Amino acid sequence: MRKIFLSIALTLAVSPSFAQWAGKEYVVEEDAQVLEKLDEWQDLKLGFFVHWGAYSVEGLCESWPVVSEDVEWLTPHENLKEFREHYFDLPKQFNPTKFDPAKWANLASDMGAKYFVFTTKHHDGFTMWDTKQTDYKITNPEYPYAHAKYADITGSLFDAMRKKDMMIGAYISKPDWHSPYYWSPSFESPGRNVNYKIERHPDWWKKYTDFFYNQVEELMTNYGDVDILWLDGAWADKANRGQDMGMDRVGAMCREKQPGIMVVDRWVGGRWENYRTPEQHIPAEAEAIPWETCMTVNCCFSYRFEESVETNVKEARDLTHKLIDIVSKGGNLLLNLGASPEGWFNKAEVEVVEDMGAWLKLNGKAIYSTRAVEPYAEANVRYTQSKDGKKVYAIVMLEEGEQPEKAMLSGCLVAKDAVITDVATGKQVTFSQQGNSTLVDMPKKKGTAQYAVAFEISKVEKMAGKSFGKSQAAIDADNRNL
Ligand code: GLC
Repeated sequence: MRKIFLSIALTLAVSPSFAQWAGKEYVVEEDAQVLEKLDEWQDLKLGFFVHWGAYSVEGLCESWPVVSEDVEWLTPHENLKEFREHYFDLPKQFNPTKFDPAKWANLASDMGAKYFVFTTKHHDGFTMWDTKQTDYKITNPEYPYAHAKYADITGSLFDAMRKKDMMIGAYISKPDWHSPYYWSPSFESPGRNVNYKIERHPDWWKKYTDFFYNQVEELMTNYGDVDILWLDGAWADKANRGQDMGMDRVGAMCREKQPGIMVVDRWVGGRWENYRTPEQHIPAEAEAIPWETCMTVNCCFSYRFEESVETNVKEARDLTHKLIDIVSKGGNLLLNLGASPEGWFNKAEVEVVEDMGAWLKLNGKAIYSTRAVEPYAEANVRYTQSKDGKKVYAIVMLEEGEQPEKAMLSGCLVAKDAVITDVATGKQVTFSQQGNSTLVDMPKKKGTAQYAVAFEISKVEKMAGKSFGKSQAAIDADNRNL
C-alpha cells in the first residue's frame, strides 16, 4: 500500500513531468509551495461552492440566458436584445438584506466542508467585490446593496470562511459579456465568444486582457490569503480564436502576491491547471492526478425558485455516497448551492447538506486526509488509506433500510491479528478471512449514521490489484464544453 502511495506521490513530485488527462496535458508543478498546498488541499475532500449574482433575483440560470446559443440548457428569448437589457439591469433589484456571511460559514462547517469557492464574477461580468475596474459591481452607489454592512460580498465571505479555517477559492470567469472589449457594442454578440476579430482589433483585446489582469490583481491583493484561483470559461483561450488571456503573466502575478496559490485554468491543460475539475460527474476510475468534481445539490448552479422549476434536490444519502466514491478515487467534491436573492439557500438543500455533514462528523476519519488505495471500489464498498499508509478504511455504503448482519470486503484480506474498529463509535468488530476477502460483522446504525458504515483496519495482508486509470467516459465528458 505504501508503495502505491509513494508512487503517486513520486508521480506528482517528479518535475517537469506530463500526463495526459481529459485529453489535455497535465503539467506537474515544480514550485514546492504549490505542491505542498495541493497536498494539503487533497486532505480537505469537501469544498463548499456558491454561485451568486444578480441573476438570483429572478431565479435565473447564471449568465447563460443572455447568450443566443442553441444549447439544451437554454430557452431562447423571443426578443433577446430586450431581454439582455433587462438582465444586465438586474443589479438594480439585487438587495440581499438577509445576507450574513457568518451564517454561511457555519453552514459550510456544519456540512463538513473544508474549503470555499465563490463566484466573484460570473460570465455576465457582474463583480461581487469592490472593483475599481468597472461600475458593474455590487458596490456601485446606484445599486441598493452598495451601502450595506457586507456590501463587499466577496471580502466579507472570505473573512468569515477563514475564521472557520477554510481554504479560500476565488472563482472568476475569463470571458466577460458585459465588457465592451469582449462583446463590443459595434457588433452583434451571437455566442459565448469574443464578438470581434482579435487580429483586426488588437487594441481592444489588450484593453480586455488588462482589465481581466487588473481584476485578478485586486482579488490577489486586497482580500487576504487566497488559496485557489478557479478560472472558468475555458473557451477564452488562445487555442480558440486567439483569445489569449495572457495566462503566464496572470499566473506569475498570482504566485507573487499569493505564494503557493493553486491556479485552475480549467479544461485548458498545461502549466496553469494545477488540478482537474470534472463537472457534474464522477470519473469512472481512480485518477492519479489532483482532481475535484464540482456538482450541484439541486439541478443547477444558480438559485432557482422551488415552485418555478423541477429542482431535483439530491438526497443526503446519495450525496454522502458520491463523496465517498470520489474520495476513494483520489478526488475532492466541490459541492454547489445557489444563493437566493435574500442571501440564503433553499431549505431542502440546507437540510441535505447538513445531514451529510452529520455523517461526516462521525466518520470523517475515513475521509479527510486519506489517500486512494487499490482496489478503490468493489460493489458497495469503497476503500481509502491514511496518508502514512498505516491504516486502511473500508466504507460500506447502505441503501435506505438496509441492515445487513455482515459485509464482504471483497479484494481486501485483513490480517488475522488485525483490529477492525467501527470509525463512528471506536468499537471493535469481529471478522473472518474468506479467501482473498474479509467478512466483517456489521454494527447496527440509525438515521444519518446508517448511510454508510466505515471501518478502520489496522493491518491488511493483501489488497486486490487495480491500477489508476483514465476512463474514456471521464475524458469525453470533460471535453464536452470546449
Ligand atoms: C460551467 C458553466 C458555468 C458554471 C460552471 C461551474 O462552466 O459555464 O455556468 O459556473 O460550469 O462549474
